Formats: sequence, structure tokens, C-alpha cells
Amino acid sequence: MGKANPCYRLPDEFEVFGFHRDLLAWYDQQKRDLPWRINRDPYRIWVSEVMLQQTRVETVKPYYENFMARFPTVEALAEAPEEEVLKAWEGLGYYSRARNLQAAAREVKETYGGRIPDTPEQIAKLKGIGPYTAGAILSIAYDKPVPAVDGNVMRVFSRLLLMDDDIAKPATRKKFEQLVRQTIPPERAGDFNQALMELGALVCLPRTPQCLTCPVFDYCLARKEGVQEMLPVKGKAKPPRPVELLVAVIRRGEQWMINKRPEEGLLAGLWEFPMFEPDRRLTHAEQLEDEVEKRFGLSVSVVDQLPQVQHTFSHLQWNLHVFVCEWLEGELTVESARFVLPEEWKEYAFSKAHNRIIQHLSEMKP
Ligand code: ADE
Repeated sequence: MGKANPCYRLPDEFEVFGFHRDLLAWYDQQKRDLPWRINRDPYRIWVSEVMLQQTRVETVKPYYENFMARFPTVEALAEAPEEEVLKAWEGLGYYSRARNLQAAAREVKETYGGRIPDTPEQIAKLKGIGPYTAGAILSIAYDKPVPAVDGNVMRVFSRLLLMDDDIAKPATRKKFEQLVRQTIPPERAGDFNQALMELGALVCLPRTPQCLTCPVFDYCLARKEGVQEMLPVKGKAKPPRPVELLVAVIRRGEQWMINKRPEEGLLAGLWEFPMFEPDRRLTHAEQLEDEVEKRFGLSVSVVDQLPQVQHTFSHLQWNLHVFVCEWLEGELTVESARFVLPEEWKEYAFSKAHNRIIQHLSEMKP
């Protein structure tokens, strides 16, 4: 037998009824007009929550409007070519979110006749839907009293309840979920969860909490002790690991070669200029010429170098050394690659780093 989950309770001095009342009154007056708040369509809410993971509201807004115009229903998303979905996501990052969203939309269409499930058990089985997104959809669209705990809500709660648990640890989120669950007013679960998010975004800011304008100032245990700026406690993540890569940008007449990344892993399914890990025994040019021949069946010659491009992911930092190569002879031997004209680039989804290479190419002297 494993250990039973510990049971956490709100501190006795925390006045839960006054807390909802004041928080919800503030939310009713101050909530932002956001495009996913115009109705309670579960699909619209789902897409917004997936986009808002790791991405700021202001960045998300234009992507969201565009995505909704192109894929207005679960069916439209399920039936769209994956390429179009990735293109609509281009620039938002964390592309597996888009691929999982579409896979889940297909599942909803096939298994649930297009209706997004409203039980924790069913919704949690959909690809890409973790406890936070499940809670957000169930509460906001269906008013189920389920917590939706992300980093912002943990910050708010660690101050409110004066908790110094490390919010980088997975067990801490579970603890917060239990505590938030005990504070949700069942009649307004969705508004309550959104009010917590709104408080985290507008008032209970990471470094400079705006306590003097906080609607729940009176309830906040950290503020009573004057320690709100020391919370939450967050263990340091490992810094991203630097990776050097050589990039071959291959020109054949007016066309350039692009290659589709594998269907699994980092930036799955996106297009790019081929990249290779450097081999210290060879010059960059020698190595690129060899590798392009081996992997793509093309004989090329390196003719120019473009500015270096850096891109940081949560766990990796790419340093891209970019070389322009002239095609000499040979035909492509892999199906994932093709030559395209610059005016066709806009039809393909590239990662941010490779879009920067495209930008450098277009600034290159003829
Ligand atoms: N961040 C995550 N979900 C959000 C929502 N529904 N509204 C505002 N900010 C959010």
C-alpha cells in the first residue's frame, strides 16, 4: 500500500465566505473584456486555456481571434489539415499544444459526437488536457466546482494563506488544489476561478503586489505579516542547456530547401532548414557539405554565412550557426524535404528561430 494523500485544510482564521463575496464583487466590476469571455462555449474556452498556458494574455489575443475565425467549432478543427493548424499557431511556441489540441478535437468529434465532455474523468483523458485545463474548462464552461491551479493561482494562494511550500514541486500543486477546492463557491465556480486568475494578473503581481488596491487585502495572511513580497517560494529550475547547431540554407536557382521535422519531439511537424550537430574534427563548411550529401543526397558548396540565431526553450538554448549553400547536383532522396520559392514560405509553419533565419535571408544582399 502506498501512503495515503495528506489532507490539507484551510486555516481556521481564514474567512472563506467574506473572501468569495469580496473577490467576486471586484471581479464583476473589474474583469477585463477578453475575447474568450463573450460566451461560455466550451470549445472557445478550451482553445483559450490551451493558448494561455505559458503565454501572456496580450500575446494570445490576436492568435485567438484568428484561430477562432479559421476553426470556429470542434468539427472545423478536427477536419482541418494539421499544416493549417500549425500555421495558425506559428509564433505562439510550444507547438505540441496545437497538435494535442487537434488530436483531442478529433477524439471529441469521434467519441463524443462533437460535445466536449463535462466530467473530470472523461475530459482528463483528452490529449493535452492536464488538471489545470480540465479544471478551467469544467468550471468556466460548465460551472463545476473544480479547481484550476496554475502558477498565478499558486502565487495568490501562497500569499493569501501564508504558505512557503516550493511551487516548483508537483506535490505543491496538489496541495493548492485541495485548498482552492475548499474555497470555491459552488454557484459561481467559473467566475471564482477566473477571479483568482484576474487577481494574479492585475493585482497580486509577482514582484510588486498591489496590496493597497487589493479587494481581498483584509483576508491575506502574508500581508498581515508583511511578507507578501517574499512569497511564493520557488526552487530554481535548471538553466537551459546550450546546444550549438549548424544550419544549411540551400539554394537551387530561385528555390530554397526546407525539411519537415519528425512527428514526435521538439517542434514536431514544423518546417526548417536542416540542422546538424557540429563535429569538432571538421570545419563547419566541410561538415555541412558532407552531411547534406549523406542525409539529403545533394552535393552543395557553402558560399556565405548569415548572422547567428539564438533561441531559448525551457530546457535548451539553441545557438544556430547559419550557412548559405549553393546546390551543385543531385536530387532529394528524402520525402520530408522539398525546394520552395520564397513566396511559398508563408504556406509553411516554421519555428521562431527559423523564421528569424528567413528574415536574415530576405535582408541578404542579392
Ligand atoms: N490565464 C489563464 N486562463 C485565463 C483566463 N481564462 N482569463 C485570463 N487569464 C487567464
